[in-house]
Amino acid sequence: MLSQAEDAEKGLKRTLGAGHLIALGIGAIIGAGLFVRTAAAAGEAAGPAVTLSFVVAAIGCAFAGLCYAEFASMIPIAGSAYAYSYVTMGELIAWIIGWALIMEYALGAATVSIAWSEYLNKLLGGGIPYEWCHSPFETFTSSDGVLHTGIMNAPALVILLALTLLLIKGTQESAFVNAIIVFIKVAIVLLFIAIGWQFIRPENYTPYVIPDGTAPVVDHAGKVIADYSGWNKHGWGGVLGGAGIVFFAFIGFDAVSTAAQEAKNPKRDMPIGILGSLVVCTILYILFGHVLTGVANWKDFVDPEKGKEASVAYAISTYMTGYGWLAKAVTVAILAGFSSVILVMLMGQSRIFYTMSNDGLIPKAFGVLHPKYKTPYKSNLILFVFVGAFAAFVPGSVAGDLTSFGTLFAFVLVSIGVWILRVKSPNIERPFKAPVYPVVSALGAIICTAMIVGLDSRTLKVAFAWMLLGLIVYFLYSRHNSKLKNPSEILPHATDFE
Ligand code: ALA
Repeated sequence: MLSQAEDAEKGLKRTLGAGHLIALGIGAIIGAGLFVRTAAAAGEAAGPAVTLSFVVAAIGCAFAGLCYAEFASMIPIAGSAYAYSYVTMGELIAWIIGWALIMEYALGAATVSIAWSEYLNKLLGGGIPYEWCHSPFETFTSSDGVLHTGIMNAPALVILLALTLLLIKGTQESAFVNAIIVFIKVAIVLLFIAIGWQFIRPENYTPYVIPDGTAPVVDHAGKVIADYSGWNKHGWGGVLGGAGIVFFAFIGFDAVSTAAQEAKNPKRDMPIGILGSLVVCTILYILFGHVLTGVANWKDFVDPEKGKEASVAYAISTYMTGYGWLAKAVTVAILAGFSSVILVMLMGQSRIFYTMSNDGLIPKAFGVLHPKYKTPYKSNLILFVFVGAFAAFVPGSVAGDLTSFGTLFAFVLVSIGVWILRVKSPNIERPFKAPVYPVVSALGAIICTAMIVGLDSRTLKVAFAWMLLGLIVYFLYSRHNSKLKNPSEILPHATDFE
């Protein structure tokens, strides 16, 4: 793998400094997690204490981030956590991580496209019929007593298709375009914090965590739409439950690790890039969560007729009189910002598939490059069918929680992987070493595991079934076709399509 990295170095230019890497991280990080799931976490589990949920999630990410930084500086290769575990823990564990990463990237893309659909509908004044922008698992009884049931989320499918085609054509997000999107996203977040601060109503902060015994919220037809009885749905348990939900907002900082081959000085700049973008986002998120739950009451965020969808635009247009223009501007900026997150996720997934296909663990189709565009187009198309099915037919909260599970699971294994490699191969050169070893590894694994436990039981059941399916695929297909089993099957390097 290291020789692959060296080969790749011949083709890639080391052009990125610490500032670029931080911008890259922020470009991949700020998205639906902030603009959709902050409100969901506040409404469903944490109340105004969602700010503390952000702190918990950020601490878990920081420890795991240090471990990512160590790997990224010593194994600077495409494939991220999958590649690290392939080296350190062998094929089976790598397969398990790769399978979990499908949840991170593919379902992450689905979640953000569903969020995109919410904000598009808001921009169009709610003009898209409920049935055509929701999954069949979602229902809504309007105040006139009519029951609406989703059919499919068509806008989510449209944006996914558009971005898949763009990826196949090989449109690279240039550093310049990324910088513009980062600028717009950060500007919108800062504007909302600065202007919204004046509209905070302190009574919204009392009580600060959701009290024990809070009655369930029901819709017009008497169906329960929020139930606070679970241990992770109220009180301090709810803060941990909320951390599992908003954790989604931090996903993407690991994308910085994939640029390790292009960093000018990876030893110094990778940790700065990974941890710098985490620090900037954490500060923005805490302030944002504080203002959002101060402007609108957390209970609004479970009510489909209030702020359950497009929560930020709702809070502005409902409570911040005179700032209708800001609601519109925020919505447009959010749509642009979401698009770039979806693009990064789809691209990340196709890279991981490419690497896994190189290792023989999934069919070769995933590694076939387009004759003209030199992109893994078959992989992109298969991915579109898979991600599109989730985006069209599964609720955003389900896809989002599964994304959090997949990522947290990968973080746990990366944290442990760093530890294993320190014991197994203490003398390998480590340009960056995670500090206070092995405390950082242990805490990264423990906090991320705690967040997994805090996810709701439905998510855990579905995730478990997914992981089981992965093991079946491995033992029936991948193990027999792997490159380790068939060393003569030399495939092109994972980095050849850079
Ligand atoms: N962190 C990314 C988002 O919030 C995935 O959309």
